[in-house]
Amino acid sequence: MSPPRKRKASSPAPLIEPGRRESLRSRLLEWYDRQKRDLPWRRTRDPYAIWLSEVMLQQTQVSTVIPYWERFLQRFPTVEALAAAPLEDVLAGWRGLGYYSRARNLHSAAQEVVARFGGRLPSTAAELLTLPGFGRYTAGAVASIAFGEPAPLVDGNVARVLSRIFEVEGAPGDRAREARLWELATGLVHGERPGDFNQALMEHGATVCRPENPLCLLCPVREECLAYRHGRVEELPPAKVRAAPKRMTLAVAVWSHEGRLLLARRAEKGLFGGLWELPAAEVEDDTPDPASAAKLAEALGADVTVQGHLGTVRRQLTHRALSLRLLRVTGRKHPTHAPSFRELRWCTPDEASSLGMSTAMHKALEAALNAGALRE
Ligand code: ADE
Repeated sequence: MSPPRKRKASSPAPLIEPGRRESLRSRLLEWYDRQKRDLPWRRTRDPYAIWLSEVMLQQTQVSTVIPYWERFLQRFPTVEALAAAPLEDVLAGWRGLGYYSRARNLHSAAQEVVARFGGRLPSTAAELLTLPGFGRYTAGAVASIAFGEPAPLVDGNVARVLSRIFEVEGAPGDRAREARLWELATGLVHGERPGDFNQALMEHGATVCRPENPLCLLCPVREECLAYRHGRVEELPPAKVRAAPKRMTLAVAVWSHEGRLLLARRAEKGLFGGLWELPAAEVEDDTPDPASAAKLAEALGADVTVQGHLGTVRRQLTHRALSLRLLRVTGRKHPTHAPSFRELRWCTPDEASSLGMSTAMHKALEAALNAGALRE
């Protein structure tokens, strides 16, 4: 008789009990096949189009993304077309979506895909991670959905779903919690149809396992859910503690000359990097006009005098409460280049409107024109 086999001390207990794992996987996939939303990027197999959808969806709702995604693809139909386009055209196509670093990264990643991979997006999460703008989430999404690699992903929806099913403690942002969630996602994604499985998790979080008023009675994995079993669905995960948005006041120069307005393009880095604007400088809430003029003069490298006020435009971003104070200004010389900006242009209103500008600045431009910015 052979001696009893020793259990290897080094083999840990499986992360998820195999029967439970299979049950979760098959129920979620069946549910997804029946209930998935008909979204345009689910009708394509083009990795570039799928990548674009994932970048847009990172901080923006599905219903907002759909028309942007369609328009962007019409304008830049391939990686090559995107790589060849000037950054400002790409930023203009992104206007209204916010978080412009996504567009800047997308553009430089497209250029790298052309330079390093002959225009074909690489097919593994490990290679995708070497491109600008690809974090673990985007790499996992593109590798699994476009290329069928069993690469995990965790976004806010997946984090909530897994926190509830596995009763994972900790608030969003907690390191140990994040590590545990990625471990669980990795443990679940191996098997058939990894892209659909990842999308099933996200879809489930978006439509059933919602932050508030989750629809547990319609949930395909209710019986597997520890939070449901223990009556803790509403308390998991705990709400993220969000810092109050920072107030930011900008003095905005409305400088007109012979029917044209002075526009400036920001340096590539930082908030609104690479975008066009009416030249602006950060000031305090109570900065008097002469001090605002001095700030604008420094940014423009030209003397600036404030002649009057054209109103204030306010806009709430996720992390910033912006106030754009519109100052009608003039100066002795009309600058054509400036130390703080990449580029200056004197534009007609039509030319100005077609530049890549943030929504906040576009509203400021409209407000300035409505307030008579071009009336000398
Ligand atoms: N959120 C981000 N990407 C998604 C996808 N592919 N399906 C469902 N929700 C998503």
